[in-house]
Amino acid sequence: MDSTTDSATNAARQTTKIEVRDIQKIYRVKKENGGGYDDFVVLKDVNLDVYAGEFLTLVGPSGCGKSTMLDLLAGLIPNSGGEIRIDGRVITGPAMDRGFVMQAYALFPWLTVQANVEFGLTIKKVPKTERRAISGHYLELVGLTNFANRYPHELSGGMKQRVAIARALAFDPEVLLMDEPFAALDAQTRETLQDELLELWEKTGKTIVFVTHAIDEAVYLADRIAVMGTNPGRITELVNIKLNRPRQGSRGSAEFGWIRHKIWQYLQPEEAVKENFPVVGAADVAEVIDSQATL
Ligand SMILES: Nc1ncnc2c1ncn2[C@@H]1O[C@H](COP(=O)(O)OP(=O)(O)OP(=O)(O)O)[C@@H](O)[C@H]1O
Ligand SMILES: [Mg+2]
Repeated sequence: MDSTTDSATNAARQTTKIEVRDIQKIYRVKKENGGGYDDFVVLKDVNLDVYAGEFLTLVGPSGCGKSTMLDLLAGLIPNSGGEIRIDGRVITGPAMDRGFVMQAYALFPWLTVQANVEFGLTIKKVPKTERRAISGHYLELVGLTNFANRYPHELSGGMKQRVAIARALAFDPEVLLMDEPFAALDAQTRETLQDELLELWEKTGKTIVFVTHAIDEAVYLADRIAVMGTNPGRITELVNIKLNRPRQGSRGSAEFGWIRHKIWQYLQPEEAVKENFPVVGAADVAEVIDSQATL
């Protein structure tokens, strides 16, 4: 197969959009027995460059700090050390350049579906007719045209998540931060939205950081996968995915299977499994990924 990196990836290599430098996140947690507090180091010395226009996925075991990392990038929580820069500017809080879809969909319960989707546009003072057109487009994309006038409590979990996705897309930020946005969806809707997201990304050149538990999803979407380890949370491996785009139909290919297996291996906690569990077609894996251990 042609293993050259695709043009989107090459373009992505030119400029760094997000710089994560020596990031630490420490929570003070109550001691189990008795009084006092302990420092709980969630993230330790995390360094990462995300390139402009890149699609980066973040995978790692539950509790390793993926959501914490995304919350830091969004500026929703303060860090305990290091800094994060976007376009060279240190971030100090949430801003209009970043849109996010959090793990627990955070919709405004007092607003209708349509008003939720239009929320960012209202803040940006986009005129009403234009707002309607944009929200209409994204509600159609996520299959919720007929629910525009409902309120969040009248929707299922998956529907709420789709509203949150439509809201983030309608807002049209340069950087999109997505925390397991498709986890609550059925397989078919999930695959449709993955393709829609890729299409939108290819058209708009957004920089996307996407957290997922699903290795398949991480491989299918990514230019690069950052693999995280736990205790303390850190990036252990950066894997460049050299599957050609568009990727429709690639899920069943041998190359896809090798990459999936390799990522699975990187996620194993024991070195023995990492080293001694051979990947079928291991010799060929080097053709489709470049990986770089960060430790
Ligand atoms: N506000 C908080 N106070 C104390 N500890 C916290 C807080 N928020 C998160 N943690 C801890 O930080 C660690 C990382 O949490 P985080 O939600 O970032 O993990 P995650 O990788 O997103 O997990 P999952 O895959 O289950 O979503 C966990 O051990 C969690 O208990
Ligand atoms: Mg999480």
